[in-house]
Amino acid sequence: MSSLNIKPIKHLKGNIDIPGDKSITHRAIILSSLAEGETSIENTLKSEDCLNTLSALKMMGIEAKFKENSLFICGQGIKGLCEPKDVIFLGNSGTSMRLLIGLLSAQNFYTVLTGDDSLKSRPMKRVITPISLMGGKIYGRNDNNYAPITIVGNSNLIGIDYKSSIPSAQIKSAVLLAGLYAQGITSYTEPISSRDHSEKMLNYFGAEIKKEGLTTIIKKTSFLKSPKVINIPGDISSASFFMVLAALIPDSLLLISNLGLNPTRIGILEVLKMMGASIEILNPRNQCGEPVGDVKIIGTKELKNITIDYKIIPKIIDEIPIITLAACLAKGFTKITGASELRVKESDRIANIVSELNKLGAKIKELEDGMLIEGVTSLMGNEVTSHGDHRIAMTLIIAGLIAKGETKVKDIDCINTSFPQFTDILFNLTQI
Ligand code: S3P
Repeated sequence: MSSLNIKPIKHLKGNIDIPGDKSITHRAIILSSLAEGETSIENTLKSEDCLNTLSALKMMGIEAKFKENSLFICGQGIKGLCEPKDVIFLGNSGTSMRLLIGLLSAQNFYTVLTGDDSLKSRPMKRVITPISLMGGKIYGRNDNNYAPITIVGNSNLIGIDYKSSIPSAQIKSAVLLAGLYAQGITSYTEPISSRDHSEKMLNYFGAEIKKEGLTTIIKKTSFLKSPKVINIPGDISSASFFMVLAALIPDSLLLISNLGLNPTRIGILEVLKMMGASIEILNPRNQCGEPVGDVKIIGTKELKNITIDYKIIPKIIDEIPIITLAACLAKGFTKITGASELRVKESDRIANIVSELNKLGAKIKELEDGMLIEGVTSLMGNEVTSHGDHRIAMTLIIAGLIAKGETKVKDIDCINTSFPQFTDILFNLTQI
């Protein structure tokens, strides 16, 4: 298990490019495999999670090759997957497992999906329930909730009208992927908008899909057309670590180019602006159906406290650990509620971020569905651990650059699941 020793920095100026978006890369790999013809996925994120989705599809007969960051996938058509000869291992990747449950429930073959200890303890019933209503035959440990998951494919799924109580793009995407194959129409209503990359990309590949407010409606589709090229924008969730670092260092100046700015993902920009950071969007444009732009951040002397509740949580769901760090150094009390989903992410992110940042002198109180954070004037270096969670590892490394003295962050290999280039980009930018 690797660890990293970090000392504080005082200045930050520079331009960075962030690797491709994880959520969009997963979807591009899946839909390119189901389309007719070859698709070249540019700026593919080569992180462990995305590579796990790719190797699952390779086990089902898909041919794919990389040339640097371009991934060429030879699509086999919507009915072109074949039965894998072995159990599919998906590592740490909840997105891979949940999306594939949806897709594989509609095939005419049998699959078993498993993952690492963290993935095997994450709830899957939330996906299995709607898909079972469509006729899916999916089984798992502990009353069909945990991996290993067995899927006895059923090529006669039937469309449903489903109302979810959890705002989750993974559940929505699984139902939409099953809905591609299901007789008639499948409609999925979510309580609050979650990221809509699946909807955008299904539309880009020619599926019959439309949105009516919080409801997404998809029709059975017999053909997906390869757009030939998909360009993946930079991942705003990965960029958020650098944004908060810049926001916390007075007079810093950071330009991040080619970032995905989908409205369902830009909560981090809204939160940092509310806290008083100076953020500007430059060159807004559309790239393969997704909004993209460059983001300029200028550090301020002191951030302000804010209140975050359930309404914005889906838009910042992966950014809450790093937002918590920003709140630790903001003036006054910041309250985050409505975030109980954090307890079932790659780790219990509420418990773990509270315990680790408090070791650095933060004053955070754990709430059942969030945190109460009292701003402090500085953090103090100490030994902390990621608990095997990539977003906690990266938050703690950023905390170490802000804290006084030396910080040791243990168990940082997990960063490779989403952002293998993180430390290189950080070292180049900060010269530490
Ligand atoms: C993701 C959706 C989010 C997010 C995860 C990636 C996706 O999960 O936390 O990292 O790609 O669909 P939920 O929407 O299920 O909360």
